Amino acid sequence: MSDTDGSPQTLHDAVAATAPAALVADGFLTVVGAIAEGAKRVDALTRRAALAGMLGDTGEMNVQGEIVQVLDAAGTDAFVSSLSDCGAVAALACEELEEAVFVSDRSDHPYLVLFDPVDGSSNIDVAVTIGSIFAIYRRSDDSPVTDATLLRPGREQCGAVYVVYGSSTVLVVATEGRVDGFTLDPASGEFLHSHVQIRIPDKCAAYSVNEGNQGNWHPEMQNAVAELRSDYGLRYVGSLVADFHRDLLKGGIFLYPGDVKSPSGKLRLGYEANPLCYIAEQAGGAGSTGTERILDVQPELLHQRTPLIVGNADVVERVVARLAE
Ligand code: AHG
Ligand code: MN
Ligand code: MN
Repeated sequence: MSDTDGSPQTLHDAVAATAPAALVADGFLTVVGAIAEGAKRVDALTRRAALAGMLGDTGEMNVQGEIVQVLDAAGTDAFVSSLSDCGAVAALACEELEEAVFVSDRSDHPYLVLFDPVDGSSNIDVAVTIGSIFAIYRRSDDSPVTDATLLRPGREQCGAVYVVYGSSTVLVVATEGRVDGFTLDPASGEFLHSHVQIRIPDKCAAYSVNEGNQGNWHPEMQNAVAELRSDYGLRYVGSLVADFHRDLLKGGIFLYPGDVKSPSGKLRLGYEANPLCYIAEQAGGAGSTGTERILDVQPELLHQRTPLIVGNADVVERVVARLAE
């Protein structure tokens, strides 16, 4: 959308004009603004990573059993502080933190945010696109927030955001029925409305999976991917947000299956699969575990993993049907 003079609207003005009125009235813009502030910080560190001491790892192991990268830790700090300080978030959960962060039980802090501060960490040191991913929920009542409050099925999200730090930095926001993209303008430091009402194209343009894991897939998944291989080209960045953003804009299907070594796959339900499947569905796509809609899964644990198949709804459905054969 543009301002009256034809220039693209800022993130704040565009979301204020398009998000559900109840969210706008209840501090949703404050949460999106806090995410944008953290994203500008991560963007600045990413663009100068080798010069800003942001390469390599911290030597620490996170709850995922993965080595924490320096930028993972910096991104965690950036978003934990911007979200904690914004005055609208009651609690947050982060991929890099074993425990949730409880900010305030006040009723004027109605939001809960689960996030992946830096997605695609294996690509940081080689200057390949990375991202950040956010699931946003409203508290269902004013009772004190506990761990259980954060274990909500993805269909209860009121919004979701991801940021892709690529050849340009794009922040994508979804609320009920609408997905919009905002490109960071280095000149003004503003996220400007660049992608209006994103809808996933009807035609699937590529499939996206780590073919190197093929030997560990169950036979029915091997057969399903063989069919995709004969119908589409392969694109795989190794950063979920980069692969997802391409599939959302050009059409495509992304898969990270469970396999004999990791039955639940690698990706996390709370802050990777749920937010991206929420966005996919608002843009006309679909997201499945292979046996059920991702957004219907009732989380048991904050960091639980899930198999993920997300993208064009007809192709997701075809894969799910193959897996059931
Ligand atoms: P994260 O960096 O947040 O741990 O996420 C990495 C994920 C995801 O971004 C990507 O799709 C996947 O790891 C790639 O895994 P493989 O290297 O096993 O293909
Ligand atoms: Mn990730
Ligand atoms: Mn991550």
